[in-house]
Amino acid sequence: MAISLKKMGETFVAEVEGVDLSGPVNAETMAAIRQAWWDHSILVLRGQNISEAQHIDFSRHFGDLQDHTVKDWLLPAHPEILVLSNRGRGGVKPLDNGGAYWHSDMTYEEVPPMGSILHGLTVPPEGGDTLYTDMYAAYEALDDETKALIEGRTAIHSYHHRYMKMAEGGKRPAPTAKQLAQWRDTEHAIVLKHPESGRKALFVNEGFTVSIKGMEPAESEALLARLYAHAVQPEFIYAHKWRADDIVMWDNRTTMHCATPYDFSAYERTMHRTTIKGLALSQAAAA
Ligand code: SIN
Repeated sequence: MAISLKKMGETFVAEVEGVDLSGPVNAETMAAIRQAWWDHSILVLRGQNISEAQHIDFSRHFGDLQDHTVKDWLLPAHPEILVLSNRGRGGVKPLDNGGAYWHSDMTYEEVPPMGSILHGLTVPPEGGDTLYTDMYAAYEALDDETKALIEGRTAIHSYHHRYMKMAEGGKRPAPTAKQLAQWRDTEHAIVLKHPESGRKALFVNEGFTVSIKGMEPAESEALLARLYAHAVQPEFIYAHKWRADDIVMWDNRTTMHCATPYDFSAYERTMHRTTIKGLALSQAAAA
């Protein structure tokens, strides 16, 4: 056995033990990690004192990497890395708890990322956890009437909408004309069938989903609010309490996440994230 897994729940979260990503990782170990990721939406690897290049190399085992649309937050030396830091490390603009709302990463892209790999570099002693919710379990727990209502329907996802909300709250500068021209809304099925597991997951998120196609605005808003409230019930949630050099990797299609508040002025919180393009999981499976 190349790795050992400490399961937290049957299928949602597992801690991978016996792996050191700062040294060479053999093919057998990588295959075991990949399989574990398909079996669990979230993997935790503790004590990974790795460089940016090692973070990128590890991430590339799962597919091509996807840059964030806002270039100000990409590490100049390694633009594959998104820097989420309230102190603005590595020449990147500070971001005050950028992921502090329930979302799945970049679902406004035509092909949403398959996953993200977050490395905690400096973490506050209290607060600044990341909450994850299990969107397979949330879907499975819906009543039959709601399942029938959302089956076959699509929802609209928008980065423009999210950015303007933050800009209006004074948390982002006004968007540039170039950004506005780049941001196109996209449409995805509300019930996602996972390409590897074949299981169904609920695929809407408060961060980027703005409406349900073909529904009256009031009805769409009410249904989305109900789905979000359902999905973040405590029984579906794992709260990750960060230690420096933790890595958490999540399947972006079957989870939502949200960073919790902390004292920005007292503490630094600096995280590096890589994001893996969609379809990579099935490409990896075929390889
Ligand atoms: C993210 O939203 O990708 C990062 C979440 C976090 O900072 O905990």
